[in-house]
Amino acid sequence: MTKNTILVIDNDQATSKWLFTFLSNAGYEVRTASSGREGLGKLTAERPNLVILDLSLPDIGGEQVVESIIQNPITANIPIVVLLRKDNPQEIARLFDKGIADYIVKRPGIESELLAKCRTCLSRARHSTSQLPKGRLISFFSAKGGNGTSTLCLNLAHILARQVTPKTVLVTDMVLPLGSLSIMTGSQQRRSIVELTTEGGPYDYKKLKEFLAPARLWDFSILQGSRNPHDAQRLNPDQIEPLFESLLLMFNYVIVDLGKTLSRVSLPLLGSSDGVVIVLGVDLVTVELTLAALKFLEETGIQKDKLFLILNRAVGREGLSKLEIERRFNLPIQGTVPYVQDNFNLASNQNVPYASRFPQDPCKLILNDLAGLLRKRITDIHEVRS
Ligand SMILES: Nc1ncnc2c1ncn2[C@@H]1O[C@H](COP(=O)(O)OP(=O)(O)OP(=O)(O)O)[C@@H](O)[C@H]1O
Ligand SMILES: [Mg+2]
Repeated sequence: MTKNTILVIDNDQATSKWLFTFLSNAGYEVRTASSGREGLGKLTAERPNLVILDLSLPDIGGEQVVESIIQNPITANIPIVVLLRKDNPQEIARLFDKGIADYIVKRPGIESELLAKCRTCLSRARHSTSQLPKGRLISFFSAKGGNGTSTLCLNLAHILARQVTPKTVLVTDMVLPLGSLSIMTGSQQRRSIVELTTEGGPYDYKKLKEFLAPARLWDFSILQGSRNPHDAQRLNPDQIEPLFESLLLMFNYVIVDLGKTLSRVSLPLLGSSDGVVIVLGVDLVTVELTLAALKFLEETGIQKDKLFLILNRAVGREGLSKLEIERRFNLPIQGTVPYVQDNFNLASNQNVPYASRFPQDPCKLILNDLAGLLRKRITDIHEVRS
């Protein structure tokens, strides 16, 4: 049986040494780090089963380290046992609020109590991981370009990420050959999903860490698409399925912008999606092309109940009414996003979510409702199927 690994983050050499010897003798694989930064680095690279954290660190505040662990989807599920200098009920309550698993006050003779707490946290974590449902895959598609698919994909993902705990949402860009999501979110990550499929698996935490970037203002992580048409040619379609399988084990939601592609790369993703958001416009071309796309999706075996139609008045021109479109499709439209003039562009040019740029705007409320409806729809579908 493989040993459980415990990472001890403690600046005090004597305690660190004592914990190393004591926990190693108790049968654990022990790693140590003497600063917050070193600890966070080892956490993402080595993904221990448990972390013991002393809050007094030389570089980063201990509570900040707790937040970083919880907010990083790669480390969010690792239980944290905090070592405290003294019993301070307010501090302890705050730490539990932030998501620690347990705490212990440093004093002589705590060995058996510490060991019991480690064992309990490890078995609870194992239990919850084995019961952890696989994440949900949501794809965004439009039959015609320029309808606001990327805009809605990012902004609904942002709201969804704020509605779920832990915030483990990943947005990825499969619009080839040129994806726009990293520009819109201001991501500094240079490595793309194309490169990832070229390098191949296994897609473990260590590998993915080199490719994922936290989009901090957006509350999700991003796996950027191709920003170079040459690179896009190198995508390895055979790796898409194993890659998404691995991503879905790590994130509550994986949200993918497919743009207007219905190809051998996007079709399997549409097929395995829990929800397919179809972005519509009011113009006749979009309506006709969407009709053709819906027929194709039906023939391909994609169930109608997975479809989530949003009418986006991206260009503000008058066209067909919601009712007329619903009649043509014989499907309900879940919501209409109004034409907001340059507001989406203003937010996008500053790399910020619409909800933060225009917190008082009625369109923000519409996006909130849509994200809630989408989440509910996906949960309902799952309940019916299982
Ligand atoms: N409801 C709206 N009101 C006003 N402008 C909008 C609305 N929705 C989107 N836009 C704007 O429309 C433009 C196109 O949006 P976006 O890039 O998201 O579309 P897309 O469907 O992803 O396009 P592409 O096919 O190029 O990927 C952007 O400038 C965006 O800010
Ligand atoms: Mg787009």
